Amino acid sequence: MIRADEFRHSYSQLTRGGGMPGKIVFQAMEKARIGMIGGVLSFFIFFSPARADESSDAQRRELHLYLQGRYLFQKHCTTCHGTTGRGDGPWAEGLTDKPRNFRSGIFKFRSTAFGTLPTDDDLRRTIRSGISGTAMPFFKDITDENVEALIVYIRSLSRNWNKEELAPVPVNLPERPDWFQESDELVSHRKRGGKLFATHCAVCHGPSGDGDGPGAEGLVDVWEEISRPAKLSEPHHKSGDAPTDLYRTIATGLNGTPMIGYAGLLKEDEIWDLVSFIETLSES
Ligand code: HEC
Ligand code: HEC
Repeated sequence: MIRADEFRHSYSQLTRGGGMPGKIVFQAMEKARIGMIGGVLSFFIFFSPARADESSDAQRRELHLYLQGRYLFQKHCTTCHGTTGRGDGPWAEGLTDKPRNFRSGIFKFRSTAFGTLPTDDDLRRTIRSGISGTAMPFFKDITDENVEALIVYIRSLSRNWNKEELAPVPVNLPERPDWFQESDELVSHRKRGGKLFATHCAVCHGPSGDGDGPGAEGLVDVWEEISRPAKLSEPHHKSGDAPTDLYRTIATGLNGTPMIGYAGLLKEDEIWDLVSFIETLSES
């Protein structure tokens, strides 16, 4: 717990440099609930006077981004994600794929091991590119700093971000192999991919990738919503259509859903064979 004298101490440390208007900082702290701004506050509490100038600059920047992110979130994101980020905005009810509840601290779209948190680049990619086939729009026109501010804000909404055991573990994501462009070789890789798909994936995604496998009925995700296996026979996929996007999804899985990560279960070339086969599903 934070004691009042510690709080005042850190507050004066922060504002001493004068880069941030004291009033705004104070109002922010007045309003902030410990849980929301906990990450930022803990900076102040463990403040070491020896590193004063260096770390107070970093703190000021972090707090500036947090406040900017909160403002942008209220402006652009709350219709779906809700004013407190619980995914319960006014539009949420009518949507099939529900807006993410950022309080749960669980993220589907990542380049990291199944079960771990996403990197900032993962969040940046989702915010910049949107999620195809869902209400999640793409935000191409906002500045890089504003995207960073939104990420700082999203990270303040769950304690999961402070848990070491959930820290992002990168998964090896190799370049697309050359055989994708060589039609003879491609045919045999697709054939192998088809067999792997029938063994490992068709139970949920269906034999033709229509999302209608025998295991597709009755699946739910951790947010207690119905979880529908993706229709891989459609031309667009949530997390991108490039072979490298499909590789990333298959290798890392979608946290919180029955779609697990296959890195470690399947070999690199087996995942590429699957990617080449999935490309055929939308061709017919
Ligand atoms: C019109 C509704 C809508 C708006 C506005 C919206 N989102 Fe979303 N967002 C969604 C939906 C729906 C999903 C979940 C899609 C899914 O799970 O398939 C989502 C998912 C996300 C995810 C992915 C989380 C994950 O699991 O990897 C991020 C990040 C995100 N939104 C950030 C934002 C930010 C930041 C804003 C505002 C700048 C915003 N969204 C505005 C509807 C919206
Ligand atoms: C237990 C059921 C299940 C199995 C088995 C399964 N998936 Fe999935 N898969 C899902 C569900 C459910 C989703 C959608 C999750 C979501 O969008 O919230 C999904 C999503 C995907 C996506 C994401 C598409 C997009 O829109 O970005 C790809 C690609 C995918 N699966 C490929 C595979 C492959 C390849 C295999 C086999 C190696 C496989 N899946 C096995 C349930 C399964």
